[in-house]
Amino acid sequence: MPLVTLREILQKTDQSDYGVGSFNVVSMEMVMGVIRAAEETFSPIILQTAEARLKHSPLNLIGPLMVEAACKAKVPVAVHLDHGSQLEIIKQALEIGFTSVMFDGSRLPLAVNITKTLEVARLAQGYGASVEAEIGRVGGSEDGAEDIEMAITQVQDAQTFFEHTGVDALAVAIGNVHGVYKREPNLQFARLKDIHAAVAAPLVLHGGSGITAQDFRQCIQHGIKKINVQTATLHKVVAKVRSLFQQTENPDYFTYHECVIAAAHESAKDHMEAFQSVNQAW
Ligand code: 13P
Repeated sequence: MPLVTLREILQKTDQSDYGVGSFNVVSMEMVMGVIRAAEETFSPIILQTAEARLKHSPLNLIGPLMVEAACKAKVPVAVHLDHGSQLEIIKQALEIGFTSVMFDGSRLPLAVNITKTLEVARLAQGYGASVEAEIGRVGGSEDGAEDIEMAITQVQDAQTFFEHTGVDALAVAIGNVHGVYKREPNLQFARLKDIHAAVAAPLVLHGGSGITAQDFRQCIQHGIKKINVQTATLHKVVAKVRSLFQQTENPDYFTYHECVIAAAHESAKDHMEAFQSVNQAW
């Protein structure tokens, strides 16, 4: 059961108490490590790459790799464009075979976000792909280049947005931020509960790195179905490679290559366990 849409993967979580890990990848080794962890734990997953990272990992190279890895996986995998803002990039991802795209209009006025999301939804529909959007604004930026201020999601905005767009997944801002948390994450569960009661969409938590397993569980109980993780994987890779070079004199290239795969695998597996997606594949 290989490449699936985001809609399909999230629908399966309905009435269940697990979340699906959505792992940002920027290299072949990271793709291999994350897929290995998903197969080992029999977890459904989402493989994603963010528009802001394409300057390092061009979409025409990383995209086909992600789709091919998903097609060959032994568990369901959705392939997703994270934080898409430019229509040409979104279209390129869909042409490559991504089964889901995010349009991030979180910095736009609500009405403009609705109009532009609908435009992306029409485009994605032509490819049978799913759409994620964001309402409110998650703090930090997904490539660390900007320190974007967070704007907690208003329940009424989320409700209006979903009524007009019917997106497949809706990212919310409840105190979560991209990158490293400057202080202990203080997630607003009461707000999340109200959004969940008002909006029928599966909800998405960005900024998954640094959140405790206990907080993940509470998020899942209150409607979070997709959880994005990037920084934790990048940090694990750097830490493991650093320790390889400290402990081994002149490690060869392929020892380094295996080390990157092992780091991505370890980080992804820990998160799948925390999200309780183990054995939820089909
Ligand atoms: P982190 O880098 O904080 O894990 O956030 C990932 C993310 O939300 C990507 O959209």
